[in-house]
Parts: sequence; structure tokens; C-alpha cells
Amino acid sequence: MHFWSFTPIALLELTFLAVLHGAKWTYNGPEGEHHWSKHYPYCGGAFQSPIDIQSKLLRFDPTLLPIEVQNYNLSPNEQLTLGNNGHSVQISLPSKMYISSLPHRYTAAQLHFHWGSYGRAAGSEHTVNSRQYAAEMHVVHFNSDKYHNMSMAVDKSDGLAVLGVLIEVGEFNQAFEQFLRFINGIKYKDQRIQMPGFNIRALLPARLDEYYRYDGSLTTPPCYPSVLWTVFRNHVTISRQQFQALATTLYSSHAQDSAAVPLKGNYRKPQLADSRVVLVSFKEGRGLRGIHTVTSPLTRRQIVKQLLVGDLADLADEGLYRLLPSGSEKLRVGMKEDLKDLQSENRAKSKQQTLNPSLRKKGQTNRSVGKSGLAEDELSYVSLEHRVFHQLKLSHREHQLVQALRDAVFPELNLKSYLDCKSDLALPAIRHILRGRPTDEALELDRSLTKALMNQGNMSTALKHILPMTHHGSLSPATVPREPQSQSYPHPWLLPMEWED
Ligand SMILES: *[C@@H]1O[C@H](CO)[C@@H](O)[C@H](O)[C@H]1NC(C)=O
Ligand SMILES: *[C@@H]1O[C@H](CO)[C@@H](O)[C@H](O)[C@H]1NC(C)=O
Ligand SMILES: *[C@@H]1O[C@H](CO)[C@@H](O)[C@H](O)[C@H]1NC(C)=O
Ligand SMILES: [Zn+2]
Repeated sequence: MHFWSFTPIALLELTFLAVLHGAKWTYNGPEGEHHWSKHYPYCGGAFQSPIDIQSKLLRFDPTLLPIEVQNYNLSPNEQLTLGNNGHSVQISLPSKMYISSLPHRYTAAQLHFHWGSYGRAAGSEHTVNSRQYAAEMHVVHFNSDKYHNMSMAVDKSDGLAVLGVLIEVGEFNQAFEQFLRFINGIKYKDQRIQMPGFNIRALLPARLDEYYRYDGSLTTPPCYPSVLWTVFRNHVTISRQQFQALATTLYSSHAQDSAAVPLKGNYRKPQLADSRVVLVSFKEGRGLRGIHTVTSPLTRRQIVKQLLVGDLADLADEGLYRLLPSGSEKLRVGMKEDLKDLQSENRAKSKQQTLNPSLRKKGQTNRSVGKSGLAEDELSYVSLEHRVFHQLKLSHREHQLVQALRDAVFPELNLKSYLDCKSDLALPAIRHILRGRPTDEALELDRSLTKALMNQGNMSTALKHILPMTHHGSLSPATVPREPQSQSYPHPWLLPMEWED
């Protein structure tokens, strides 16, 4: 997913960040992807794209409807702008094009490509079980029900929807020829030309009902985690000649630059899953037997509700398995044994509660999903960055911006995504909710969960960057973490919780 030219407009108002965001970036060298987060902190943050779509991440979701696109068949009388922005080749799309099968209307803005190089037909961003395709097309849409234009939507958690199409070298593709025949006119950065409209639908695979769905980000700076991703299961093909035209014609340098830099290999490598899962709309085919069906949103809501206002002693006991990543059935059996020890203790606790109603009352705050700023309201990444940066600057800890943003954003995204069935509930998100609960109950649950998850072994890999919650009681996402303490503890999840009271 590449986001072009709108960013500077949106960000220039934030003068103190303008220095950061004007920064040049590339796919290799000193401004390459491993350095993006220096100037674009979200690139080092949570819920990044692309990902490797691995079988073990897949969950069948019977509620996923076929993708429906409207007004994609453009007439030759409609002029489209074809441009080279130095990172990709991009076609601007008219606002009458939209996706109609998602909860909001998502209006088309542009499409663009990522590809390999002359000798290497491997340049897709998403990979499937580690297989990289020759190229990938992204059709970028924004949530026009909620936002006036692309620049308003790009940094909102429900702002964008992108259709991803995997491209393999094979049969000649007539639809791709509609724009490839013009790319000699945009060899250099910032060149653009007008071209006649054509049927954009013909660039997509025949079947729009089979796809992967997950929550992710722009795959280029500023990497906001604002994208609802749909990657079609079936790839399209272009001929070897067509691939070579794409891979060898363009330059990422300006026409007047003395050294011409070829535009190739413009793909980002797969990012951490971050407790996300990938929903699939299909169930048949290789490697799909025994695929889990997602737990219903209703069940998920009940669990979160119980975390918010329910009896935590119950959750720390029998209900604990429901909080663990799905597919942990084995664990559930083993845990029962473990938990026997805890049970008597918990019963004593419950009794105490009944005897001490004030303790319970304290837990029953009026926080509910959607009203707490938790999960249902969109996050605004630019303003969040602004606030976090400001707080860090006051304490001369600007260098912690990436980690601070990650800590602020991850629990919200995880919870939102969990309620939509697109991730497992992660411990940092649970702790985020538990901050409003009485200390002893919450500590008990935290201890049980940490223990259960530690026993599960390699959960740690995906979450090793996540620091624990801090004592700041506010749910404000701009909460700034304390100094990282990870060196002195064996595992971030074992770090003690601190409570405002
Ligand atoms: C987008 O919309 C906002 C608010 O409606 C407006 O202020 C801004 O100028 C628009 N940006 C562009 C690029 O059209
Ligand atoms: C919580 O909600 C109840 C009604 O559901 C209301 O009477 C009470 O005032 C609310 N408390 C707070 C702190 O908002
Ligand atoms: C988990 O650990 C087992 C061995 O302990 C290993 O075979 C497996 O590949 C690991 N899984 C992951 C996702 O790291
Ligand atoms: Zn892209």
C-alpha cells in the first residue's frame, strides 16, 4: 500500500513534526525500511503490513461477504492520471468508484504496484506461506461515510480499505496493457500523463468472493495502522514482457538528476503478526482442512464485558481459557490441572467480596465497550503522535517515541481487532482493560494469565517488544510509559503491574 502526496498536506500543520515527516525514504540503503521508524514512528509500531499469510494464522469467517465494487468500468472518455512518484507507478481513480460490501462505503482514490526486478520476479508485499509473488497491486479506498477526503482518513483507525491483488508471471494480461503502454511517458520521478479510462475491474481476479482479511497498515511511510486489508486468494497473471516493462522502465530519480536510479524492488518485507489472525472467506483447498472457525463477536463481547465489569475471579478460574488465543484447546486441558490449586484460593476471594460490597462496587465502573474510548471510536494517529511527542519532549525522552506510541496504540488496536474477530486477545490489551478493576482480583487474573501463557511457550516471539502497562491511571492513549525496564526482567509479561490506587 503506498500513500502518495497527501501526507505533507496533512502533516505540515504540525510544524514540530514537519522536520520528521518531510524525510526521504527508500527501500534500501541508509533510508531503507529498517530506518523508516526514525522519521516515521508508526513504521516501528503495531499492526504493520504486509504480513506473511501463514496457514496457522487463518480463521474461517462465514460472515465475510463477496467483495462488490461499483462503477469500476470506466469509459475511455474519462481521463485518468498515470504518475511516477519515485516509489511506484500510480493511477488516480475517480470518486464514483467504491466498495459497497463493507460496513461503510469506501471510495476509491488510487491504485499502484509493488514489484521485483529484472532478474527477480519476486516483489509482492504479502506472501502466502512464505511464497512471494512477482508483483502486487493495491487499490486504495477511503471511508467516505466518515471522512471528507483521503487526507482526513489516512491516519484514522477506520480510515482506509485496500484491495490487494497478487500478480504472477504467466499469460499475457490485456487489462494491464491499458496502462503499461503509457509508462514510457513517466520514466522519471514526478512525471505524470493523462490516459483514457478502462475497465479497472479487469485488473482484479475473476473471483472476488475468496479473500484474506486482516487489520494492518500502509506499507510505506508514514505506516499508519489504518488499513482494512483484503488480499484476494487468486492471483492474476501478466506476461514476462509485461513484468519486464514494469520492472525496467521506471526510475526513482528525477529526469534532471545526474545519476539515474532504477525503480525496482519496491516492496516492504513481512511484518510481525502482533497477535493478529487472518480471516478467510473460504474453507476449501490445500492446507485448509481443520481450519478453525472464528469465535463469534458476541462471545468476544461477553468476554470483554466480563473483563470490564464482571467477576474477575470467575475469569481467573474456569473462564481463563476463553481469553487465550484460539486453537489453545490442548492448553485448556492442561490448565485445568494447574488451576485446581488456584481454585480454592479464588473461592475464598469471592467470599471476601460478598462480605465486602464496597470492593465489588469499585469494580463496576460505567465503562463499557464503545463508551470508554476503547475499541469502537476511531484512533487519530497524527494527533496521538503529536500528544505523545509533546509529553516525551517535556521529559527529554523524545527517543522513546516509537515505543511510547506502540504502547499507547497496541492495546486499543488489539481490542478493536479482537472484537472484530481479527486478532487474539493479547495480555497487554487485557491489562489495559484491567486498569479499572480492583487490585487483588485483577492481579489474580493477571497472574493466572501470565502463567498460562508462559506455559504455552513460544508466545513470546511476537510480543517481545511489548512492554507492560504503567501506573498512569488514565485511559488516554497518549499515556507515556516509564523507562523501559525489560533488561532486568526475564520476560515483559512477568513485569509487575502497578495500580493507581
Ligand atoms: C480534506 O478535507 C478537509 C476537511 O473537510 C479540508 O480541510 C482539506 O483541505 C481537504 N484536503 C484536501 C487535500 O482536499
Ligand atoms: C453509572 O451508570 C448509572 C446508570 O447505569 C448511573 O446512575 C450512574 O450515575 C453512572 N455513574 C457514573 C460515574 O457515570
Ligand atoms: C514453538 O516451539 C516448538 C518447540 O518447542 C517449535 O517446534 C515450534 O516451531 C515453535 N513455534 C513457533 C511459532 O515458534
Ligand atoms: Zn502499496
